[in-house]
Amino acid sequence: MTAPPVPPRVPLACLPTPILKLERLSACFGVEIFVKRDDLTGLLETGNKVRKLEFLVGEALALGADTLVTCGTLQSNCCRAVAAVAARLGLRAVLALRGEKPDTYDGNLLLGRLLGAEVVYCSEDEFERIDEVFARLTEDVRARGGRPYVIPESGATELGALGYLECAHEIAEQVRHGAPAFDTLVMTAFSGGSQAGLLMGKQVGGLSAEIVGIPIAHAASQVREYVGATITRAAARFGLAVDPPKAVHLLDGYQGMGRASIRKEELATIIRLAREEGIVLDPVYTGKAFLGFLDHLARDPKQFGSRVCFIHTGGIFSLFPFRASLSNLLDGHPLVDA
Ligand SMILES: Cc1ncc(COP(=O)(O)O)c(C=O)c1O
Repeated sequence: MTAPPVPPRVPLACLPTPILKLERLSACFGVEIFVKRDDLTGLLETGNKVRKLEFLVGEALALGADTLVTCGTLQSNCCRAVAAVAARLGLRAVLALRGEKPDTYDGNLLLGRLLGAEVVYCSEDEFERIDEVFARLTEDVRARGGRPYVIPESGATELGALGYLECAHEIAEQVRHGAPAFDTLVMTAFSGGSQAGLLMGKQVGGLSAEIVGIPIAHAASQVREYVGATITRAAARFGLAVDPPKAVHLLDGYQGMGRASIRKEELATIIRLAREEGIVLDPVYTGKAFLGFLDHLARDPKQFGSRVCFIHTGGIFSLFPFRASLSNLLDGHPLVDA
């Protein structure tokens, strides 16, 4: 059985997410700064992932799947969201995680296990050849009588990106109902799939803002290539009137030490936003991106126009495994590596 071109979207997220003004940061930089709270799309099925999963799980159900198979880091937000959605819909989840089984579960991994996901730990080498791991895991699921559906890391497919095309429609609708017409939307980029969705929204979703991504892991060139390829695939597969943009606006240089570790300035950014605005970022994705955003605002506050909105894509649970570094910084001691 083949799935329809755009499978029915399964409503999983609490939408629309609110848009709030960051009053003290706005006063500090002399421009209006807002945040779109995509960290409030749910509690467990939350962040940007659940918007992608509305489409990916829609396809899984249309194909008659009963087991979601995906992969990520030990603290993957996507894997936790998949585990939560699977439990909510009565499906099974199998997670291929990069790393060794820890003695004690924490953060997203703790929640994934609590939600009943089966976890398979992979070495770096195995993770490099994730397609082979997926082939093995899906074979195992079938051997047990199950029907697997594979979700690539971060839900990074043209189908997943439709979640952020929908978000573009949502923002355009909020603007029609009185939200500020933003000059720029800024967001974290890992694969770039969410950014690709918003960029499609600029062409067919009624969104006029400039879309800026901040890569937190991969080189900007890689993100740029992925964004373009995703839009090309979405156009071909779903018949959308979208083209890869001539320029994909990315702020490079905020990858830090990668997703597994955190630097003092990233943690300091998290502390600043928590204390000044009561909003908690995550250390792996949004904390790095927000550091880049503030850094650029400090250099030229007007570069994003007079109204800019940061899309907070969630990830709070990965804060807890960084408790040692964070506690030290909060108590004024030198940072210890997490
Ligand atoms: C909290 C958070 N923000 C942003 C992203 C980046 O999403 P994308 O892969 O669509 O660029 C991720 C994805 O891993 C995430 O977990």
